[in-house]
Amino acid sequence: MQFPPTRSKSLQRFRLSRWLQERGLNVEGQLRLIQWLLPLTLTGIVLIDEIKEHILEKHELLFSENFLIEVTFFGLIGPTAVWLVLYWVRGVWQEREDDRRLLQKMYNELAEAQERLTALHVQRGKLVDRLMTVQEDERRRLAREIHDELGQLLTGLSLNLKVCQEAVPQELEAVHQHMARINTLIRHTIDQTHHLIVGLRPIVLDDYGLLPALQEELHQRLDPLDIDVHLETNGSFEHLPPAVTTAVFRIVQESVTNIIRHANAHHVYLSLSCSTEELRVTIEDDGVGIPEPQPLNGDNRQRLGILGMQERAAALGGRVEVSRRQPYGTQVQVWFPLKREEVEAA
Ligand SMILES: Nc1ncnc2c1ncn2[C@@H]1O[C@H](COP(=O)(O)OP(=O)(O)OP(=O)(O)O)[C@@H](O)[C@H]1O
Ligand SMILES: [Mg+2]
Repeated sequence: MQFPPTRSKSLQRFRLSRWLQERGLNVEGQLRLIQWLLPLTLTGIVLIDEIKEHILEKHELLFSENFLIEVTFFGLIGPTAVWLVLYWVRGVWQEREDDRRLLQKMYNELAEAQERLTALHVQRGKLVDRLMTVQEDERRRLAREIHDELGQLLTGLSLNLKVCQEAVPQELEAVHQHMARINTLIRHTIDQTHHLIVGLRPIVLDDYGLLPALQEELHQRLDPLDIDVHLETNGSFEHLPPAVTTAVFRIVQESVTNIIRHANAHHVYLSLSCSTEELRVTIEDDGVGIPEPQPLNGDNRQRLGILGMQERAAALGGRVEVSRRQPYGTQVQVWFPLKREEVEAA
């Protein structure tokens, strides 16, 4: 960290001072030297002058009263006063120098702490990115397995039941009733399995891409609640990097959860715009609006939804901002940078 120029630096501008410093005499040493040299020089000059005046010109005795008085006053008291003033100046300088050194030390420690913090922040970002990738891979694997294994089994069960229903004579009414109930249970289980798969990782996201997956997500969750969905797109979304696709899907998913839970909205507007440089997504609702930030009020419940969205975006160099929408409702703005090569390579 660059420390502002100091007095000692400005002193370096004097050539003599620099010359002395180069010979190992620092500013403190120079001040000490002046403190002694100046009074002694004064005493010497006074002595020579007094000897010249009293002894050579006035032909007085060597230690005459006048001589002693003037030498004591001008050659001893005067230089002592100069010495004391310089002593005081050196003390003040020393105090300021101590302050400056302390400040410099603090600046250095701060700079080091800032560097460490930046490194930790980068590390944390990488860790979050890795965690989310692992989590998504695991969810994808589970969703596929449930879909392929459990889904097939349930379909097989349903088909076999149908064969049984056809084979059992109509007179056995009680058996038919049981089988109808089993059929209903199987249908119910198939629906639950489908929800579970979609919750884990919508296969449509991997198979058909971001837009169909978002449409399905919005309609499946908001239509039953009579919330109108408005979708607006601009640009092509087919070649987005998979990590960005997943992040956008998850962010919209959490925003929809928040709308269902907190907004009491009638309309939801989703807009996506993609260029070669960036992807912008806005999710808006016309509900009650996100509350203004509240001071801590003893409500210790962790709210992780918005934080999670922001972490997801930050791990990919993006940003999420949640704000109140005018005149009412909430607005979630998402931004991701896209590198041209990355988009083309995906
Ligand atoms: N669309 C919205 N409309 C109104 N309020 C909202 C909306 N989205 C978020 N909020 C407010 O912001 C708060 C924080 O949301 P966040 O998603 O971080 O946490 P949460 O939904 O309360 O809990 P969770 O951690 O389970 O997501 C919510 O408690 C809610 O008060
Ligand atoms: Mg939430």
